Amino acid sequence: MTSALATAINEQIRAEFQSAYLYLAMSAWCAENNLPGVAHWLRMQWQEETLHAVKFIDFLHDRGAGVHLLALEEPIRTYRDAADVFEHVRQHEQSITARINVLYDAAVEHRDRPLEILLQWFVNEQVEEEAQVNSIIDQLKLIGNDGPSIYLIDRHLATRPAPVAEPAKG
Ligand code: FEO
Repeated sequence: MTSALATAINEQIRAEFQSAYLYLAMSAWCAENNLPGVAHWLRMQWQEETLHAVKFIDFLHDRGAGVHLLALEEPIRTYRDAADVFEHVRQHEQSITARINVLYDAAVEHRDRPLEILLQWFVNEQVEEEAQVNSIIDQLKLIGNDGPSIYLIDRHLATRPAPVAEPAKG
């Protein structure tokens, strides 16, 4: 693969770990602010983002390209409430979708079919992730921001299952 694409994938690995770091920070804030269900949901999201990063790492290994882990930034640590948390999740996921689209365009431009195919999985994943967070934001709008409503949605978000990792290769 071209070195430009390998660099772009390493940047995307950083973005996926940055997402994981952001969601872990959000989860900690929720745990400290009586939102254990939202904290759990965000922990699952943290795991999911880590799996995304590893998927790109494995791809670089398979293609004989070097993995270069880049520095992460300190994530935002405080939020107003659950609605504010999920609005930040939505904005963040939209920015990741934009990044995946740019990477996809680069794969097409460099005629890298394996990368195109890998990115098709990520394009679908972004549709799913944005739909999921939009649905939570819609539910929060519907039920309102009072204590009993937040308690109910928090209990519901506590049921999110752990993401399933793909079996190890080899
Ligand atoms: Fe890996 Fe939520 O984007």
